[in-house]
Amino acid sequence: MIPDFDLVVIGSGPGGYVCAIKAAQLGLKVACIEGQKSPGGTCLNVGCIPSKALLHASEAYHESTQNFSKMGIEIETPKVNWSQMLKYKNEMIAQNTQGIELLFKKNKIKHIVGWAKIISPTSIKVGKQLISASNIVIATGSKPSPFTGATPDGKIIVDSTGALNLQEIPKKLIVIGGGVIGLEMSSVFNRIGTEVTVIEYLDHIAVGMDKEISKSFLRILKKQGMNFIFNSAVNNIKVKDNIALIDYLSRSNSTKSTLSANVVLIATGRRPFTDGLGLEDINVATNNTGQIIVNEKLQTNHPNIFAIGDVTTGPMLAHKAEDEGIAVAEQLAGQESLLNYNLVPSVIYTSPEVSSVGKTEQELKDEQIEFKVGKFSFMGNGRAKVNFSSDGFVKILADKKSDKILGAHIIGPGAGDIIHEICVAMEFGASTEDIARTCHAHPTVSEAVREAALACLD
Ligand code: NAI
Repeated sequence: MIPDFDLVVIGSGPGGYVCAIKAAQLGLKVACIEGQKSPGGTCLNVGCIPSKALLHASEAYHESTQNFSKMGIEIETPKVNWSQMLKYKNEMIAQNTQGIELLFKKNKIKHIVGWAKIISPTSIKVGKQLISASNIVIATGSKPSPFTGATPDGKIIVDSTGALNLQEIPKKLIVIGGGVIGLEMSSVFNRIGTEVTVIEYLDHIAVGMDKEISKSFLRILKKQGMNFIFNSAVNNIKVKDNIALIDYLSRSNSTKSTLSANVVLIATGRRPFTDGLGLEDINVATNNTGQIIVNEKLQTNHPNIFAIGDVTTGPMLAHKAEDEGIAVAEQLAGQESLLNYNLVPSVIYTSPEVSSVGKTEQELKDEQIEFKVGKFSFMGNGRAKVNFSSDGFVKILADKKSDKILGAHIIGPGAGDIIHEICVAMEFGASTEDIARTCHAHPTVSEAVREAALACLD
């Protein structure tokens, strides 16, 4: 019997929809099953896109209060209209998700709304509907890790989804976890007048980040008015008279303390979302954190079932999921595909932004690779100064002998954009001299990348 589809993709986040579209463009008959009414997954509905809308709006407000008068722009005291800010955010979600629906139509992808259960390696059930497929891609993403000390109520105790839909701006916000979500959402509320305190289990923010950048980042966020409590584990949250009471334990001296807040955001990590998929029934192998185990071709232990994005191993980043989606589509169409996980950039969209690609200093030391470091501060960059954004620096790590670029870490204006120059350079195996000899337009913040490359040379 001929299967209904060459490929069924489960999940329509950046991994799933990109995989479906690419496979359809390469000639496969494709369906994409999505449980939520609105396609786009976490990223478009309750993650990257809405958080970036709030980051953009809050940054514009901050700019108007801090810098407008300095530049000779006189306006009445700006005010935040929170419900309009949320409306703007929701419009951005709608525009992006509608775009996916259009792309599905344009590429003749069958969009099935419903929760999928894999019945066998070639069949899937959605409600009463049975669908057969030659290949299945699991792209079901992730969800907030359960927090044993409290359950989000969407009002006073929230996870990242709830934080994007608060009915009013909280006076006091406690954020549990100084990771990417915690820091981005803290930035939004700090800028619009909330008193923000981050409680972090470790002794530093943004785990995995280059230590020097992390220190500088913390200093800048403190200067912006955010408070931090380190080495402390939050183990319990209670709500009394509409106020959250957060109990935490200091890991250095074992003292117990309690803080109160109008809202508490739990941002303690995410875990793969595989609920109801039926993985156990067909014995799809997972590891002890629930991630689906795949080989270098992204195949599970069933060769025609693939897993991509947050549901499998590697960084939980939309662009990593997209690239994996494209790789699977290309393989299914008989093409070669290549993924270089060392060149997946990461960006924190605070102000200033923080970005990173390749190895950190610590990783190079651990791998006993001899390296050199070139740094350049945005204080020395004319464009950054003009834009009142000279906090931060560019740091490039290169092989001591060959000068080949091994990693780059940026904190500063446009860090999330200018990192890509280094990604491309690294993809082509470039040296710092290659970047240093490349003409960079003046005045741009990208000149700081060239200067850091120059600083690597003698
Ligand atoms: P995370 O893993 O980045 O950070 C969680 C933090 O919470 C850690 O530093 C951990 O030490 C701390 N923590 C855990 N339990 C705690 C406790 N009981 N008390 C105090 N601190 C505690 O997780 P996050 O921020 O929730 O992000 C989840 C994923 O989403 C990440 O993998 C991230 O890469 C991804 N993401 C990426 C974005 C981007 O690329 N801009 C934006 C948002 C999310």
